[in-house]
Amino acid sequence: MDASLARSTSAAADLLSSADLAATHANEYFDRAEFGSAAQLFALAVARAPERTDLRLLLNRSVKRHVQRWHFRMMNDKRRNDAYQAAIEAAVRPADIVLDIGTGAGITAMMCVRAGATHVYTCEHDPILASVARKIISRNGLSDRITVLTAASTGIEVGRELPRPADLLVTEIFDAGLLGERALPTLADARRRLLTPAAELLPRSATVYAQLVESPGLHALNHVGEAAGFDVGDFNVFESLEYFADYLSWYPHELLSEPFPLFTFSFGEGATGAETEVEVPVVRDGSCQAVVMWFVLDLGSGVTLSSGPWDPVTHWRQAVQTVRDPLPVKAGRPAVVRAGHDGSRIRAWLLGR
Ligand SMILES: C[S@@+](CC[C@H](N)C(=O)[O-])C[C@H]1O[C@@H](n2cnc3c(N)ncnc32)[C@H](O)[C@@H]1O
Repeated sequence: MDASLARSTSAAADLLSSADLAATHANEYFDRAEFGSAAQLFALAVARAPERTDLRLLLNRSVKRHVQRWHFRMMNDKRRNDAYQAAIEAAVRPADIVLDIGTGAGITAMMCVRAGATHVYTCEHDPILASVARKIISRNGLSDRITVLTAASTGIEVGRELPRPADLLVTEIFDAGLLGERALPTLADARRRLLTPAAELLPRSATVYAQLVESPGLHALNHVGEAAGFDVGDFNVFESLEYFADYLSWYPHELLSEPFPLFTFSFGEGATGAETEVEVPVVRDGSCQAVVMWFVLDLGSGVTLSSGPWDPVTHWRQAVQTVRDPLPVKAGRPAVVRAGHDGSRIRAWLLGR
């Protein structure tokens, strides 16, 4: 965090006359868990009193709570970066105007320029990330080819932020379960309002796969029964009813089924929820304790990117949905898995027989 962030709060600066006053207000935001606002005011305080290490620590504490740690893992995910780079190189044409949804540090936007795009408009709804992205893009000498919009994509309009509809949409707004960052409604909205009719989406589609596993270690991440000789089962009111991200390979497990597809999504086409029921061949006797899910992105031009447990590792991890009351399954007798999504979150569960 630095002076550029402080400058972005110049309106507030007029009101605050000293580092301590800024810090007092910052602390109020921090106590209300408004870490972005706290970070902006602590940055102002630090700009006024650069010698104060206490203020720098408080600024860092706010920033760490505001900017998710996964950004670092994501940017260092070479498989992800290489796949996007290859697909972007193949998709961008010289006269293209590109819309990049979700700037982060600006990596995909800068890839588009490197691939020859005339201009890239990239939007980031987090003002702190947007300000740092501008700095990164400037350091890489690309400020004249990339416009960073501090806005959600849904707040952008052609004729206002965009000079004309974009020829290509690039985005990486996916969590371990694919939909958790609201990719479906976001891309449907962009397709409807912000692109030329012929514009491609990168990625264009994705399929979510699942596999049934027995893994006491994964199950124990979300459920408890007896501990230290006490019945603590009532604590399960706090279980996650939805998936959480973790690496299947980190936990001893038995595979009870082969991988099977749950949903395929064509991005840009809509965001309504859906349910499906799949008969899954069981390959081994066991107790199904989790449904492990992952996705394969189709980035176009023959480039795919999988977050699956059987592919080289990515930062995403898998989406693990534990089964509260593990169900016995038998080899040769199909299990029935039901899965649903509401446009932003996938759930999968096993039906008893
Ligand atoms: C997973 S990061 C990817 C960043 C960058 N594109 C890259 O690939 O390195 C996604 C970023 O998009 C932002 N974001 C997600 N949905 C958005 C939306 N609809 N409009 C603007 N920003 C969004 C998040 O705040 C986050 O910083």
